[in-house]
Amino acid sequence: MTAELFALSLALLAIAVVLVYTIRTGAPPTPTSPKVRRALIDTIPPVGGDVICELGAGWGSLAFPLARRFPKSTVIAYELSPLPWLFIHIRRALSGPENLIVRHADFLGADLADADIVVCYLGRTVMERLKPKLERELRDGSVVVSHTFAMTGWTAESEKRANDLYASPILVYRMPQNRK
Ligand SMILES: C[S@@+](CC[C@H](N)C(=O)[O-])C[C@H]1O[C@@H](n2cnc3c(N)ncnc32)[C@H](O)[C@@H]1O
Repeated sequence: MTAELFALSLALLAIAVVLVYTIRTGAPPTPTSPKVRRALIDTIPPVGGDVICELGAGWGSLAFPLARRFPKSTVIAYELSPLPWLFIHIRRALSGPENLIVRHADFLGADLADADIVVCYLGRTVMERLKPKLERELRDGSVVVSHTFAMTGWTAESEKRANDLYASPILVYRMPQNRK
């Protein structure tokens, strides 16, 4: 096999793996754009010593800036898709930051009870799957920040628009929501 054919096979395999996990999780690893990232991070109230969980970290477009912006907090980034996870795992091992923990795991099976702040950019279907879990597990006063996708049936404490092409909404929810 020539080097070109080998490289092409590897690239096709990588695309296939990303596609399979996109179908499995219901969300592609689309990165948050820099403008939305800046607006989202500015939305998060000053935190010190808090646990920030990023649900579905993709290629790390939010996880690394969050961990750098809030050095006294612990950022736990969950990602199930193996290639994006491997990418952020290696980047974290090479250059930190220390307060970022990267987990190759399904966040729907994780215990989120310790999260003070949950950050997500997912999709309508995934948000619906996540909703009862957050309602059950998050403590009163915990905050959920989602961009682009709203949580149906929840009332946002605040909503602002990023200065990007789509004026992407950034929604902040405070728990409890819908708790029986
Ligand atoms: C739209 S991307 C967002 C990536 C990153 N948060 C960002 O804003 O740049 C959504 C990510 O969530 C991941 N994901 C979806 N469901 C998941 C689950 N149940 N457990 C872990 N990761 C999940 C997908 O693999 C994908 O990488």
